[in-house]
Amino acid sequence: MCGIVGYIGNKQVVPILLDGLQKLEYRGYDSAGIAVLLDGKIERRRIEGKIAGLKEKMAKEPINGFMGIGHTRWATHGRPTEENAHPHIDCKNEIVLVHNGIIENYFTLRQELIELGHKFVSDTDTEVLAHLIEENNKSGNFLEAVVKSLKEAEGSYALAIVLDKTPDKLYAARLGSPLVIGIGEGEYYIASDVLAILNYTKKVIFLEDGEIAEVSKEGFHIYTIADLSRVNKKAQLITWDPITAEKSGYRHFMLKEIYEQPRVIEENIKGRLSKDKEEVYLDFPDLPDKELEGIKKVLIIACGTSYHAGLVGKFILEKILRISVEVDIGSEFRYRDPIIDKNTLLIAISQSGETADTIAAVKEAQKSNAKIISICNVLDSSITRLSHGVIYTHAGPEVGVASTKAFTAQLTALYLLALYLGKLRKSISKIELIELIDELLKLPKKVEAILENDKDIIKCSKTYFKYKNFLYLGRGINYPIALEGALKLKEISYLHAEGYPAGEMKHGPIALIDENMPIVAIVPHGQVYDKMVSNLREVQARQGVIVAVGYKNDEIVKEMSDYFFTIPETIDFLTPILTIIPLQLLAYHVALKLGVDIDQPRNLAKSVTVE
Ligand code: AGP
Repeated sequence: MCGIVGYIGNKQVVPILLDGLQKLEYRGYDSAGIAVLLDGKIERRRIEGKIAGLKEKMAKEPINGFMGIGHTRWATHGRPTEENAHPHIDCKNEIVLVHNGIIENYFTLRQELIELGHKFVSDTDTEVLAHLIEENNKSGNFLEAVVKSLKEAEGSYALAIVLDKTPDKLYAARLGSPLVIGIGEGEYYIASDVLAILNYTKKVIFLEDGEIAEVSKEGFHIYTIADLSRVNKKAQLITWDPITAEKSGYRHFMLKEIYEQPRVIEENIKGRLSKDKEEVYLDFPDLPDKELEGIKKVLIIACGTSYHAGLVGKFILEKILRISVEVDIGSEFRYRDPIIDKNTLLIAISQSGETADTIAAVKEAQKSNAKIISICNVLDSSITRLSHGVIYTHAGPEVGVASTKAFTAQLTALYLLALYLGKLRKSISKIELIELIDELLKLPKKVEAILENDKDIIKCSKTYFKYKNFLYLGRGINYPIALEGALKLKEISYLHAEGYPAGEMKHGPIALIDENMPIVAIVPHGQVYDKMVSNLREVQARQGVIVAVGYKNDEIVKEMSDYFFTIPETIDFLTPILTIIPLQLLAYHVALKLGVDIDQPRNLAKSVTVE
C-alpha cells in the first residue's frame, strides 16, 4: 500500500502535500517525494525514508507552486531508494506521476518501451506508466493517451498525474486502489483516503474502479476509462473526525485490518498465480532451482502468531513436498542444538522482520549454510536482508498489535511457496495444482462472506465477555488455528484462553470443563470431522458451553452448539484461512465489550526487538 496526494488551487502546494503525506504515512514509509509544476516546469524532491526527511529536504530546497502531487511508498517492486521513490517522470520531464498499486505486466511493457528508445532510471513498475503515457501521447490528446496506457497496463492503480503541457490540469485514475477527490473553493485535492485532506475539505467524491478524473481550478470531469463516457457523481460530506478517518471509519486499526483481509489475500495471489498457465510466480534470484530441488528438510522458525502460521505451514509443505518439516519457536530453536546442513531450507516467518528471537535463529542457521527464505511484511527489514529469498506478504502496514491480516497473508504465502516448490520438485500432479490454484483464487470472496456475517459473533461476545477461561480446540491443520484463536483472545482481552489439540482433551484438560468454560471448536468437514464431533459430545456431557466454527449446512454441529459461526466450504487443506476469521472477530468483540485498549494492549509491542 502507498499513499498519494495531489492539489491544484491558489495556495502554496508544498505544505498541503507534506501535510497530506504525513497523514498517509501509516500506508507506508519506505520513501517519499513530491513534484510541483510551475511556469511549465516540473520540479521534484525525493528521499529514502520517512516524511520527516522530506520535510527537512523541502526546508533546504524549497519549491514554489500551486499545483503538484506527492507520494509515500510501501515498496513492492524495487528497493526503497531515492531513485525508486515516486514521483516518476518520463524521458522528456514533461509527465510526472505517483502510483499506489501493482502493474503486473510492467516487465513486458518496460522491454517494449526500451526497444522504442525509452531510458529507465528506476526498477519500479510505476516508471513504466510514465514512459507508456509519453509514448501514447504522440496524438497530443493527453486524456486519451492516459486512458490508452491504462488499458495496456494490467494490475491495480490509484494514480495522480501532472503534465507540463496543460499547466492547469491534474489527472486521477483508479483501478483496485482507493482514490478520492476533495472539493474546495476554486481548489481541488486528490488523495488515497480522506484523512489526507480532511483538514482542508469535508466535501469529497470517491472515484470508483475504472474511472479517471480531469481536475482544474475551475472544476473536474469524471470519465470511464473503458470508453471515456462522462460520469456524474454526487459529492459526499465526510462526518468523520481525522482519527476515525485514519481507520477508514473503523473504530480500531485491528478491526480495519481484519476487514482488509480479502484485499490482502487477493494482493498476495494476484500476479503470482495463473490457473490457465498452471503457474506459480515466485522470484528467488539468489536461490537457483537446482538448490531448491535438492532440499532434503525444511525448518520453519517464527514467534507468536507467525509461529502459528508456521505450524499450518508444516501441514501444507509436508503434504505437497513429502519431505520432513520441523517448526520451532525462535527463542527455543538455538537451544536444541538443531540438525541443519546445506540441504536444509529454513523458512523464517515474521510480519515485522525485526523479531530478535527469529533473527537470532536465522543467524544460527546461517552458520550451517542452510538456504533461507523469509516470509515478511516489511521490505528490506533485518530478516529479509539475512535471507537468500523473500516472499513479501504485501499486507500494508499492520498497526494493530494483534496480528490479523499479516497472518492470513503468511498462510497465503505458504500455500504459494508449497505449490511453487511442489511444481519445481514434481511432487504435485497437474490436476492437484490446478484444483488448488482454482480454490486459492476463490478465497478472497469466501473471506468476505464470513466478514459480512458477524452478527452472531457479536451476540456471542456479549454472552461470554465476562467469562474468565476459554478452551480452543482443533485437530490436524486446524489445531494451529485453535492456538491462534486463543492467542488473539488473550492478548487483547487479557482473559485466559488456551489452544489444545482436541484429541488431548481426555488426557487432562477435560477436567477443566464445566458450564463456566466456553469451548471454542473448529469443526469444518474433512479428515478429522468425526473425531471432532465425538470430542464435542464429551464436552456436551459435561455441561460445557460450545462455540463452534463449521460449514453452513452442518446441522449436527449446529444442534450441539450454543453459538455456531459458519464458513463457506473449501478444500480441507485450505480451511485455516477461513476458520481463523470468526475467531479474530470474536476476540475483537469480546475485548470491545471489556473496554480495553484493543490496538495497543498492555505489556505488548508490535515488534519484539529484544530477546
Ligand atoms: C501477534 O498477534 C502478536 N502481536 C505477536 O505474537 C507477534 O506475532 C510476534 O511477536 C511475532 O512478530 P513478527 O511476526 O513480527 O515476527
